[in-house]
Amino acid sequence: MTRIVVVGSINMDLVTLAPRFVAPGETLTGERFLTIPGGKGANQAVAAARLGAQVAMVGNVGDDAFGQQLYDGLKAEGIDVTHVARVDGVGSGTASITVAGGENQIVVVPAANGQVTPAQVEAARDVIRCADALLVQLEIPLDAVDATLRIAEEEGVPVILNPAPAQRLPVDWLRRVRFLTPNQHELAAVLGDDGDTDFRELMRRAPCPVVLTRGEDGAWFRDGDEAPRHQAGFTVDAVDSTGAGDTFNAALAVYLAQGLDVAVRGACAAAAIKVSRLGAQPGMPRADEVTAFLETHR
Ligand code: RIB
Repeated sequence: MTRIVVVGSINMDLVTLAPRFVAPGETLTGERFLTIPGGKGANQAVAAARLGAQVAMVGNVGDDAFGQQLYDGLKAEGIDVTHVARVDGVGSGTASITVAGGENQIVVVPAANGQVTPAQVEAARDVIRCADALLVQLEIPLDAVDATLRIAEEEGVPVILNPAPAQRLPVDWLRRVRFLTPNQHELAAVLGDDGDTDFRELMRRAPCPVVLTRGEDGAWFRDGDEAPRHQAGFTVDAVDSTGAGDTFNAALAVYLAQGLDVAVRGACAAAAIKVSRLGAQPGMPRADEVTAFLETHR
């Protein structure tokens, strides 16, 4: 069984379904409100567990009711929560999400996620050492991400760094990752580009292998010196794109042992299934669902 460690955020998603996105200063009547477990780290952990991996999570919840719910939810998915801490006197991370026409707008408040520390990651070194892959994103403090990259490198564990939310990153970080998994906008931000450069050129400039997600267009990938290659996307009726990128990252990690082409195709399929369903974690597919989807979609 593939062993995966995820270092990252754990949020409660406060989701409003609306007929369209609201304009500044406008009040709009929504259709439905839901609280749904989310957070890029927790989402990737849940997606990997549903796809059959043995998963350990490193992160924080707050000492509020959301915190207990989020902790219990991860445990119920079979995820090892030994390194998920409850931070006293702080609330859990939240994401206020509007879903309209299958797309989303998200405002994240880190709260307890902002207190993930390098020492906390260090305390998980023994678990990291045994992992086949480590997934990390940018919704926790950058010194904790830095420690994660260093510890994974010291322990010889390949890292998939999902640079979201987007920001410029030090070049030496990029040299330490097995795969960087941005979307087009995130890759430009990571490299400090103004956003006008073609994404294939940016992929060539990146000092590390890149798997770039392009929504309906699928994904482009480059490992080593080869030219970027393309995996077409799968067409589905879009309900909610929240967590699709997280599903993609988790699937990439789980399927990587089967080769990069197979992994990217599986990741595109898993993400497409997610887009066709509401909610980040509730919409994430199980391994047999991805297999069935791939058999019926070419
Ligand atoms: O990637 C989707 C996630 O981003 C949401 O679940 C939300 O919590 C934000 O962190």
